Amino acid sequence: MEFSIKQASPAKLGSGCLAVGVFEGGKLSAAAQALDRSARHAISDVIARGDMTGKAASTLLLQKLPGVTATRVLLVGLGKSGGLNGKTTTDILRATFAALNATPAKNAALFLLDDNIGKSAAWTLRQAVFAAADSIYRADSLKSKPAKAATLKHVTFAALQEADAALTQVVAAAAATAHGVKLAKDLGNLPGNVCTPTYLADQAHALAKAQKSIKTTVLEEKDMKKLGMGSLLSVTRGSEQPAKLITLEYHGGDKKQKPVVLVGKGITFDSGGISLKPGAEMDEMKYDMCGAASVLGVMRAIAEMGLKLNVTGVIPSCENLPGGTATKPGDIVTSMSGQTIEILNTDAEGRLILCDALTYAARFKPDTVIDIATLTGACVIALGHVVSGMLGNDDDLAGELLAAGEEAHDRAWRLPLYDEYQTQLDSNFADMQNIGGRAGGTITAACFLARYTKDYRWAHLDIAGTAWKSGKDKGATGRPVGLLVQYLINKANGA
Ligand code: BES
Ligand code: MN
Ligand code: ZN
Repeated sequence: MEFSIKQASPAKLGSGCLAVGVFEGGKLSAAAQALDRSARHAISDVIARGDMTGKAASTLLLQKLPGVTATRVLLVGLGKSGGLNGKTTTDILRATFAALNATPAKNAALFLLDDNIGKSAAWTLRQAVFAAADSIYRADSLKSKPAKAATLKHVTFAALQEADAALTQVVAAAAATAHGVKLAKDLGNLPGNVCTPTYLADQAHALAKAQKSIKTTVLEEKDMKKLGMGSLLSVTRGSEQPAKLITLEYHGGDKKQKPVVLVGKGITFDSGGISLKPGAEMDEMKYDMCGAASVLGVMRAIAEMGLKLNVTGVIPSCENLPGGTATKPGDIVTSMSGQTIEILNTDAEGRLILCDALTYAARFKPDTVIDIATLTGACVIALGHVVSGMLGNDDDLAGELLAAGEEAHDRAWRLPLYDEYQTQLDSNFADMQNIGGRAGGTITAACFLARYTKDYRWAHLDIAGTAWKSGKDKGATGRPVGLLVQYLINKANGA
């Protein structure tokens, strides 16, 4: 899908469909008023008859209005205030694209910028691009008869007033971000028998081939053994699939600039290992590589927009399966950092692969390290599916990530990482154990990681509740690609 932004007068603009807003109570937006004048009150007549009340996210399609060049006009209900709270605005945008996709229009022009329906024009544009991309997303590549692709190909964001030139950049960046989100969703939705660690490594190589600014390297198990990654390797022992440690280096900034390193959990299937999970919904553990997928998505997005920043992606990837050679509860392993770990529960495997990847990340002399992981079921209990959990050792970084989450409407919420929680990881036999009991499970998981991230500025995003949806609408969300790309854009802009 392509996007553009321009100033236009509604009645004269040629398009498959114009979308214009109507407020609750029947008041027309400025663009709707202009159309109404050219169309000899066709719109106000429809409203007087009660077919469109302006209720938020309601829509009504009108055909061939007199005096209007566009083939169709879609009236979009903006509610009383015209959105403005995040949820209402995204509902309005989703409803708009659902209605547009129900028409055969190949292009559409949305006059919604003049109506102040979002937190700012940039915010609304980002959300509109994301909603548009989401509306044409299909997860049926493995069906024998995939559905027909959407017909809508071009979306123009039209405004009565001349739009701020900077908004063109915002639209381009949002479109690139949407491509990254799509990659993250595609990878997340693939089943474990297709999306293996080797598959992720192939995808990373493919990304480097498509984007010359990315360099990919893949470490094999023998390389990891040499590096002393005993913790990561303990997780893959029950699997027949070889583990991979994937690195993607993007050089968009100054040569000497230290990179932001993104570390993504890439468990391509988490059965729990010997500490086997219960059977119900175990299929959803194919999503346990969504952190890795978000790293690949971010790399794709920033390369496409040519972001002026150095960013490195590190993806530890393997399966967590039971088997005769699998790690057993009580086993003690030595991590790359030299710290020893008593593995009391093989299902707490995310932290075991991340700790070695985080130690490895120090090699890149990072400015900042952010890890992204579907790490704890406890995070879903604490925060549900609305926000990602965030913990870290730097208040400025935490603030920047929270702000980026608001801007991209891909929000996170910070949890405390006080030292008082660390004692829950005390082990009788090793430097630490890999679980901290039921209390504060998301925090103790982060406490574990904190023991490996002392040498740099670090944040951890627990995306267990936000990376995918369960039930009827089961599927990967592509989160937190939006948050991360926005953070990197802000950083590149020196904010
Ligand atoms: N991948 C899971 C976390 C998870 C669970 C994400 C449910 C989304 C939904 C992780 O590897 C895991 O199994 N964590 C355990 C940790 C526990 C054993 C300390 C958990 O959360 O139950
Ligand atoms: Mn697990
Ligand atoms: Zn897991």
